[in-house]
Amino acid sequence: MDTAFITPDRGPYFLSHSVGPLTQKGQNYLNEHYVEPWRDGGGRAWPFWLTLLDRFSGALAKLLGGREDEFAHQPNLSAGLSKYLLSLPSSDNPLKILMHANAFPSMGFVVSALPAESYELVLIPEDRPAHDPNVWAEFVTSKIDIVLITHVHSMTGILSPVPEIARIAKKFGARVLVDTAQSAGIIPIHIPEWDVDAVFGSCIKWLCGGPGAGWMWVKAETLPDLTPLSAGWFAHENPFEFDIRNFRFSETAKKFWDGTPSVAPYAMALGGIETILNIGVETIRAHNLEMLKIIEPDIDASINGGTLCFEAQDRADEIENKLKALRAYFDRRGSRLRISPHLSISKDEAKAVRDCLT
Ligand SMILES: Cc1ncc(COP(=O)(O)O)c(C=O)c1O
Repeated sequence: MDTAFITPDRGPYFLSHSVGPLTQKGQNYLNEHYVEPWRDGGGRAWPFWLTLLDRFSGALAKLLGGREDEFAHQPNLSAGLSKYLLSLPSSDNPLKILMHANAFPSMGFVVSALPAESYELVLIPEDRPAHDPNVWAEFVTSKIDIVLITHVHSMTGILSPVPEIARIAKKFGARVLVDTAQSAGIIPIHIPEWDVDAVFGSCIKWLCGGPGAGWMWVKAETLPDLTPLSAGWFAHENPFEFDIRNFRFSETAKKFWDGTPSVAPYAMALGGIETILNIGVETIRAHNLEMLKIIEPDIDASINGGTLCFEAQDRADEIENKLKALRAYFDRRGSRLRISPHLSISKDEAKAVRDCLT
């Protein structure tokens, strides 16, 4: 097992689609970059803490491409999406936002909670394959303003071809947004190769950074036209100017910050991202696919995003019990089982899981 990761001793860990394993670096960084500066410097910890937040954005830029100043931390994807949508220039008609019905529900909830006179949710039905660009081509029309692509779907594990879908959307002049909650850290991503406007993510899953360290990437050229509807001193061009009569948004993605930022989740998450960077996403993905193919030889790697989502139907109880006897960490929603092998999983563990499924 790779010692960079700390997984529970109890049994094989297949839950990276939910909470990725803790990293040794993340645990150390929480102390080194959060607790120790505070313990040793009290309020003088702030310069360290602010540097840490910039390092977080820098690490994301290294991992995903794009510029450090195009990234802004957010508590989670929902908050980032909400802020982004509210920052768009107003229009006479409601902005129509297209996503697949298998997108994570929270993304749809964000749109549903916005004023109906300004935003409208349009869904591609569940029974149409989310990975097929032709399906998107049917639904993207000149009436669609925004297309949200879920890079990897959480309940099906389906990997969508972002560049192809983005190309279709751009033909109609739509803005393109991407949800990478389930893909960052397991699927190689280079944002500049995608013709997209904004990307949202968090670090809790394959980035192994724990909850609370969400982020958004916004294409630099689009930033001048975006005016967030919320602000705070850290969204100011110069947070330390302290002139209540003179608010100016930062020209960078920091315009999506607000008040005093949280720090602890980003210390943990930086450790997770650096761990993934040191190993390489390609290496992690290769191991993930090798393990997935042991568990399910027929898996189609071109449309699988790292998780085996297995519709067990009337065998769900039987398989769940077998996996529990292995003391495996996995999850079940209805009759659907989800199994995500990260680097900590050995061939023997993958074979043991395969024996439970067959
Ligand atoms: C595809 C996808 N998007 C978004 C989220 C979570 O969004 P948020 O960070 O707002 O909780 C998840 C969580 O499982 C997810 O799987």
